Amino acid sequence: MIELENVSFVPAGASCPTLAEATLRIGQGERVGIVGPSGSGKSTLGYHLCGAHKLALAGRTDGRLAYAGRDGTDGAPIGFAGLVGQNPEAQLFCRTVYDELALALLARGEDETRCRQTAETLLGRYGFADRSQASLGSLSLGQKQLTAVLSMLAMEPRVLLLDEPTSYLDAAAADRLFAHLTELSRENGWIILVIEHDRKRLAGFADRLIALDGGRIVHDGPASAGETRDAGVSEAEDWAEALAALPPFSPPSLDAAPLVELHGLRFGYTPDAPILDGLDLAVRPGEVVALLGANGAGKSTLLRLIKGLGKPAPGRVALRAGLTAAHDVGLMFQNPEEQIFAHTVAAECGYWLENRGVEPEERLARCRAALAGFGLGDLLDRAPFSLSFGEKRRLCLAAILVAEPAVLCLDEPTTGLDAANMAAMAAEVRRQAVNGRAVLLATHEEAFAAMAATRWVTLANGRVASDRPNPWLAP
Ligand SMILES: Nc1ncnc2c1ncn2[C@@H]1O[C@H](COP(=O)(O)OP(=O)(O)OP(=O)(O)O)[C@@H](O)[C@H]1O
Ligand SMILES: [Mg+2]
Repeated sequence: MIELENVSFVPAGASCPTLAEATLRIGQGERVGIVGPSGSGKSTLGYHLCGAHKLALAGRTDGRLAYAGRDGTDGAPIGFAGLVGQNPEAQLFCRTVYDELALALLARGEDETRCRQTAETLLGRYGFADRSQASLGSLSLGQKQLTAVLSMLAMEPRVLLLDEPTSYLDAAAADRLFAHLTELSRENGWIILVIEHDRKRLAGFADRLIALDGGRIVHDGPASAGETRDAGVSEAEDWAEALAALPPFSPPSLDAAPLVELHGLRFGYTPDAPILDGLDLAVRPGEVVALLGANGAGKSTLLRLIKGLGKPAPGRVALRAGLTAAHDVGLMFQNPEEQIFAHTVAAECGYWLENRGVEPEERLARCRAALAGFGLGDLLDRAPFSLSFGEKRRLCLAAILVAEPAVLCLDEPTTGLDAANMAAMAAEVRRQAVNGRAVLLATHEEAFAAMAATRWVTLANGRVASDRPNPWLAP
């Protein structure tokens, strides 16, 4: 159904291909996992497999492409493939969740009754029926990602490409999604292509694995454990090893005064629906608190309140005497696209220092060092929006760390990162804690919570439902 023969792609303005001589055939009902390190060409291959290359990529494609037996030089026929990219916010257009699911169905002439039935069935299956009329602006990022995925499932394409579809989903939603995808490929013959770094999840789903490195296909075969190991893909269990290799935490001093204290925090976006409802928490220097909890539990809301982007009523965010939210709290947004605004990587990284009146020369030196530490040392003059998702993520972190805030709030810092970058991020977080900072990080990634945190705090019903030491750290 999908045929690529010697397909290469060179981005506009570049001389090297980001996809080189790819030859593949994918038939009905195949479930394909696409893996490889950050920047290895996974999304580029995905767009070509879907026939969306002309629409989604600026550059030159060579080679032969065919979709359902027809020439695909200019792309696949409309409706052939559905695609969910890495930034769910970029593909939501409508006012409500229901409107978003109905959009493609209405466009192809289905009547309102059929739209309602499809939406009800899908939303019901994911326990999301009560949000059908919710406005998209009022959803958490995980809820937005789920909406983006469901709108593609509603379209019933023959080929579905999902680029890191569970990056913002909680474990229950991710499990439901993969079980559903398996059903759709078995019963309806859909081709399902998933770019995913969680190999454990892929192993239970994919029947074929394609691994990329430097734009080349380095493995294409069955997705059994041995094969994937040969493909150079790190095991989900590998993080236990990575954990042992990380620099140790120093034991947090229990008599040190907390850097941030939350007292009886209550907050809602509308007065009658509190998201946080009497939440208490204190974080001392040297501690890293992993904030866990289902999509919509209020993790991002909490981090934003600590940064002063919203006022609890009643309740109080207290920083240690002498600290202010503007100067001493660094917030990394859940979606890097929301954080980035400058013209160059260097300007983005230096923005906070500039605001604090740091001289240009010192600013540049500090930015250079911070960016080099995240493997972005060669990209100072690049437009931040042209970076890959994982690179944007690292830039956002560098831009926060360079100003050395006392309290770090990191919202899902590892989405879009491969295993190696995730371990590097964990090492960096540990260093920050050892240097006396207090860190709060929201995450759905157990591996990251295990590697980076000293404490695991789970939010539910607007409060702290459990607060315990990281069970993966030796006592
Ligand atoms: N701007 C907003 N207006 C109204 N409601 C909102 C707004 N932002 C978030 N909410 C609601 O507040 C609740 C908590 O959202 P929040 O983004 O804090 O959750 P989260 O725990 O970070 O979720 P996720 O795991 O999906 O990131 C959700 O039910 C969400 O629908
Ligand atoms: Mg969130």
